Amino acid sequence: MIKQKKVTRRQFIQTSMATAASTAMPQLSIAANNASQSWQLEAVEISRRFEPQQPAPAKLLGFNGSTPGPVLRLPQAKVSEIRVINSLAEPTAVHWHGLRIDNAMDGVPGMTQDAIAPGESFRYLLNPPDAGTYWYHSHHRSWEQLARGLAGVLIVEEQQAQDFDQDLVFAIDDWRLDDDLQFDETSFGSLHDWAHGGRLGNYLTVNGQTLPEFQVVSGQRVRLRVINIANARVMTLRFPEGPIWEIAKDGQPLTPQPIEDRTVTLAPAQRVDLVLDMTAAPGDVSSVEVLVRDQVLEVADFRYHSSKRQETMNEAPSPLPANPLHQIDLTTGRDYLSVPMKLEGGAMGRMSAAIHQGESLGVRELARKGQVWAINGFAGMTEQPLFRVPKGTAVSLEVNNNNAWPHGIHVHGHHFQDSREPGVWRDTALLNRAETASLRLIADNPGQWLIHCHMLEHQAAGMKTWFEVT
Ligand code: C2O
Ligand code: CU
Repeated sequence: MIKQKKVTRRQFIQTSMATAASTAMPQLSIAANNASQSWQLEAVEISRRFEPQQPAPAKLLGFNGSTPGPVLRLPQAKVSEIRVINSLAEPTAVHWHGLRIDNAMDGVPGMTQDAIAPGESFRYLLNPPDAGTYWYHSHHRSWEQLARGLAGVLIVEEQQAQDFDQDLVFAIDDWRLDDDLQFDETSFGSLHDWAHGGRLGNYLTVNGQTLPEFQVVSGQRVRLRVINIANARVMTLRFPEGPIWEIAKDGQPLTPQPIEDRTVTLAPAQRVDLVLDMTAAPGDVSSVEVLVRDQVLEVADFRYHSSKRQETMNEAPSPLPANPLHQIDLTTGRDYLSVPMKLEGGAMGRMSAAIHQGESLGVRELARKGQVWAINGFAGMTEQPLFRVPKGTAVSLEVNNNNAWPHGIHVHGHHFQDSREPGVWRDTALLNRAETASLRLIADNPGQWLIHCHMLEHQAAGMKTWFEVT
């Protein structure tokens, strides 16, 4: 069994009572407006309190003074300029997770750019083809910089305004804090975590806040953009009573589906856009919960104010406008290049050796180098890509999760369809223990791209590879 600090929520229980009286708006600050198309993101050290009564603020990382950073709202199919300034004492780089953009803007140090040195800046030009819910995060030592808070939400706005009463961001994160609510440094980089489920935390926040309260009006129809920005925790969220639909996954619209059991499971980096009809009465408070094994943790509340007459209540929402991605036809007359991806390693795994930097090593030696995961027998980056294909090639990644742990496999620069979810486009697929999936995509974006596990400790410990589109 995984040995992790049990999520006790001592802090939570205290706060849930304290917060009942607060009416703080959890909505994040918005860094952009549609008129301007150039923004600045400054990576900085920040100190902040998770709870007002904590003795000293925790030392974290953020953008423009907060974690998560500002919500970036970019226009679809227009160039936005984002200048990232590195005011940290260490290098960094920013990856725009899920955007199908130019390779040179993908933010992967050592592959698409040099890391941004302290005191330097980098100008990212983003021309996102698809509207939807995305996020941005450090891609330099991401297991460390994300754990410390270097991430934010990125929204690409639909060209026509959508008919929702509110458009809310719900970025859920998982921190490992000590008893004084300081960032837990002692367990940092623990090989034990790396070989198990990654750095699982013991403290959950939504939009960086502890048990925030969203202000809603009874009768409203709300779009809720849920993003799992945790390093490693797979989150199962349960939403309050009332009709709920999913209208997009990993940014990409789908035919709205009612969610009968009101729960959603997201691997790290996955997103879901939900439509919630706020049916509770004015004065009510209802909560969003995270289910962790046998525990039910309250992570955010909706507080219902006066009411509004809502004509469409209980009727399925209309679908979001299709993206250019939806023009890709994966079904007819395609001959797929089949690319096996066998995921091996970790605690209780059967991996006995793997090739790391050209050398065949036994598991002990691998562990000494911090490498405990492999794809097709290779731990970490290889000289040769997993595959190299001309632009337009249809590729099927045949992923076999042949070990004891769940993994969230993320493909850069492309969306794919998972054989287990026909018709749904994703950029990150969750594979539980012993699961297999075919991830089908058209390799149509030229350049060198990463594929890796988004349990960031697994990525750091070897579960990563790359491909090239020529
Ligand atoms: Cu969200 Cu390679 O990352
Ligand atoms: Cu993994």
